[in-house]
Amino acid sequence: MKINEKLILIDSFGRVAKKLRISVTDRCNFTCIFCMPSQPIWIPKSEILTFEEIERLVRIFVDLGIEKVKLTGGEPLVRNDIELLIEKISNIQGIKSISITTNGYFLPDKAFKLKEAGLKSVTISFHSLDKEKFNSVVGKNVYERVLKGIDTALDAGFESVKMNTVIIRGYNENEILDLIEFARDRNLILRFIEYMPFDGLHLWDLSKVVTGKEILDIIKKKYDFEEKPRENGSTSQNYRFKDGKGEFGIITSISRPFCSDCDRIRLKADGKLVPCMFSKDEYDLKTPLRKGASDEEIKNLIRTYYYRKFAGVEKLINAQLLPKHIRPMHTIGG
Ligand code: 5AD
Ligand code: SF4
Repeated sequence: MKINEKLILIDSFGRVAKKLRISVTDRCNFTCIFCMPSQPIWIPKSEILTFEEIERLVRIFVDLGIEKVKLTGGEPLVRNDIELLIEKISNIQGIKSISITTNGYFLPDKAFKLKEAGLKSVTISFHSLDKEKFNSVVGKNVYERVLKGIDTALDAGFESVKMNTVIIRGYNENEILDLIEFARDRNLILRFIEYMPFDGLHLWDLSKVVTGKEILDIIKKKYDFEEKPRENGSTSQNYRFKDGKGEFGIITSISRPFCSDCDRIRLKADGKLVPCMFSKDEYDLKTPLRKGASDEEIKNLIRTYYYRKFAGVEKLINAQLLPKHIRPMHTIGG
């Protein structure tokens, strides 16, 4: 192998990984019904990667062509001093962007610190404008606090502030237009997410999934919008309002999953590599890391594991087979 040859992460279908999602903890201060099991099995603290271990792995991933990092959880902000990790990662040469997906609870205190540490963008999960409904779905009386979190993130000056809304039939599809209005008024980029079978309570079934097409049909009744060209590897199909006031997107993980140009790879909080969230396959990186493996050895492991990446959920869906519950969302972070 040539000395300066740039390695890439490529799987057996030719898909190249560019984005790394790191779940920094599986713990969360909320218990959203579409995510948490009633009795979560937490990863023991000693099994959770330290910031130093994560930083080392990110450097290795960057050498393998990763350009963007997203921190997820559980709730990433329950991890103490997460801004120190953000600073470490944003200083790594080759990282083009670092973002976070959060439930918003800690943003009133943390948003400015995160911005200062180098965080480029924030996505806040927010599913209902109805206070009682919101509190009951997240399992906590936190509606006002999360709203304040959104406002603080908007004030902190990030490159973008997005809002993730999981749409579930019978719960919030009647709020789609109001949620759009809410987001447009605040310059928030709203992403509707189709309900996925990653709920710890196993309440998911296909009849509760409001598809992207249904969501678009509802929005069409009130707004003029046009489809934006889809970015390669993007999970979200995005649309801009014709009046120039903002955009929205739909993450059609169930009705149209876009597996064929997927460019993501995931790292769980316990150091397991997950090439595809719709497959049970996961590969231990923590043990070799803690046993003193060299960067080269870890690189080779990651390349071998990524090569085996599952084709994706798209084939199942096309064959009208139901995707299965693989793991609860709080262990993988979306
Ligand atoms: N289906 C779809 N989205 C989910 N999320 C959590 N559980 C599910 C599910 N079962 C969302 C969170 C967060 C993102 C990581 O995924 O609300 O915004
Ligand atoms: Fe926590 Fe996010 Fe899961 Fe809700 S969806 S319980 S906020 S990890």
